[in-house]
Amino acid sequence: FILILDFGSQTTQLIARRVREAKVYCEIHPFNLPVSKIREMAPKGIILSGGPSSVYDKEAPKVEKELFDLGCPILGICYGMQLTTHLFGGRVERSEKREYGPAQIEIVKDSPLFKGLNVGSSTYKVWMSHGDRIEELAPGFVSIAKTESTPFAAISHSESPIYGVQFHPEVVHTEIGTDLIRNFLFEICNCEPIWDMHSFVEMATREIREKVGNGRCICALSGGVDSTVTALLVSRAIGDNLTSIFVNNGFLRKNEAETVLSFLKKLGLKVDYVDASSRFLEKLKGVVDPEKKRKIIGEEFIKIFEEEAKRIGKVEFLAQGTLYPDVIESVSFKGPSATIKSHHNVGGLPEVMKLDLVEPLRELFKDEVRELALELGMPEELVWRHPFPGPGLAIRILGEITEDRLRILREADAIVIEELKKSGWYRKVWQGFAVLLPIRTVGVMGDERTYDHVVALRVVDSVDAMTADWTRLPYDVLARLSMRIINEVDGVNRVCYDISSKPPSTIEWE
Ligand code: XMP
Repeated sequence: FILILDFGSQTTQLIARRVREAKVYCEIHPFNLPVSKIREMAPKGIILSGGPSSVYDKEAPKVEKELFDLGCPILGICYGMQLTTHLFGGRVERSEKREYGPAQIEIVKDSPLFKGLNVGSSTYKVWMSHGDRIEELAPGFVSIAKTESTPFAAISHSESPIYGVQFHPEVVHTEIGTDLIRNFLFEICNCEPIWDMHSFVEMATREIREKVGNGRCICALSGGVDSTVTALLVSRAIGDNLTSIFVNNGFLRKNEAETVLSFLKKLGLKVDYVDASSRFLEKLKGVVDPEKKRKIIGEEFIKIFEEEAKRIGKVEFLAQGTLYPDVIESVSFKGPSATIKSHHNVGGLPEVMKLDLVEPLRELFKDEVRELALELGMPEELVWRHPFPGPGLAIRILGEITEDRLRILREADAIVIEELKKSGWYRKVWQGFAVLLPIRTVGVMGDERTYDHVVALRVVDSVDAMTADWTRLPYDVLARLSMRIINEVDGVNRVCYDISSKPPSTIEWE
């Protein structure tokens, strides 16, 4: 296996992800893992991540020099390479100017790290993000690649299998990143490509079992991919000691509760289903402010969840479908930042309930979770479902929520999903849904004047929901959507298409 020592880079997980993509098992550990321990673990190779520090900082994270005597191959990335140079007696300079963004490297010396790439003649696009830089190589090291601004874009030791790169091979902008990591794994460390999602399931199951033991665990299930996969994994590990709580807040899509429940039952999951629709609807009577809606729904959810947990009895653990992007966002955005929307998730639960967290997905990215979901037997239909906000349809009904307005939106939403699927667009877009506007407009239906509701369609492309653009759906798909919604949903006489990007708009309307 490959050991990744983390020096605090934002992209450490991406390194792990690239290694996993190459079907090699890896583990991330903090930089200060004792060398004695590493020796016991016997990794086939070690990758030192980047990090925000400078090797001259008083508190700079360091590794013991003996690490390099283990004899196993080491690849230092950015800070990892500067630290290697520093420890071997080279000179690293603090530079005032950070180099950030694309650069072209030229390979200057044959090396197993660059197998398959050309020496000299060609240049390759890489991604830089660093403050300090190497001014003088440590004894025993040679440069194997350069850029216009540094002769030491990549280095290697002339006798031991120790390598360093100044750029970030783990990010997609580094064109040769995958080749480079694969070369390190297969040419230098002699790893074998045998790790896959099946092995992930085995390992995660084992780890959950070790952590939870005979304890009891609960899990808030929304029917979304993340929470469902979490529940499946945990239940695989501890069986009936897991109770999944599925709260129907009344703002689910058409037939959603039934679909999810029947699937979960089929898989033998113990589900505590709470239909609290009327309770939520009651609480939201007359509420039109989006943040108020979100707050009320969030608080009510926590209340119900706590009540259920009490009913279940003594519980020590809470399983949560936190993904890696959630983890990195919460650590990287330090300091005061504006609340755009109070996202409803189970974030508030662990503090309120004083439960230990079980988060088996916290190292994975969304697409890996989908792969895992398929491995665990989740039907494709559920695996590829579009993201759906916790407060559900409530924040897609602008203005007051009433049973009738819920009916209208639910019907319209079902048509959107159906038509996107039929036309083959469902899998191509990030999210597509209907929004019910708080206005009425005049129309004419069968010679009669109507004064009815307006539905807006929102279909967007995105990779991570941080930014998004409206999807250029073909006119005939839009035409069919509009026609069906107006004809089939009683109370709607107009359909609009939302053509705003995020930013400055957001994906949801509230
Ligand atoms: P916005 O509207 O902020 O949405 O551009 C970004 C993504 O997050 C989803 N979303 C939510 N997800 N709880 C969730 O779990 C929420 O309260 C919530 N609000 C928005 C939204 O659907 C989009 O995918």
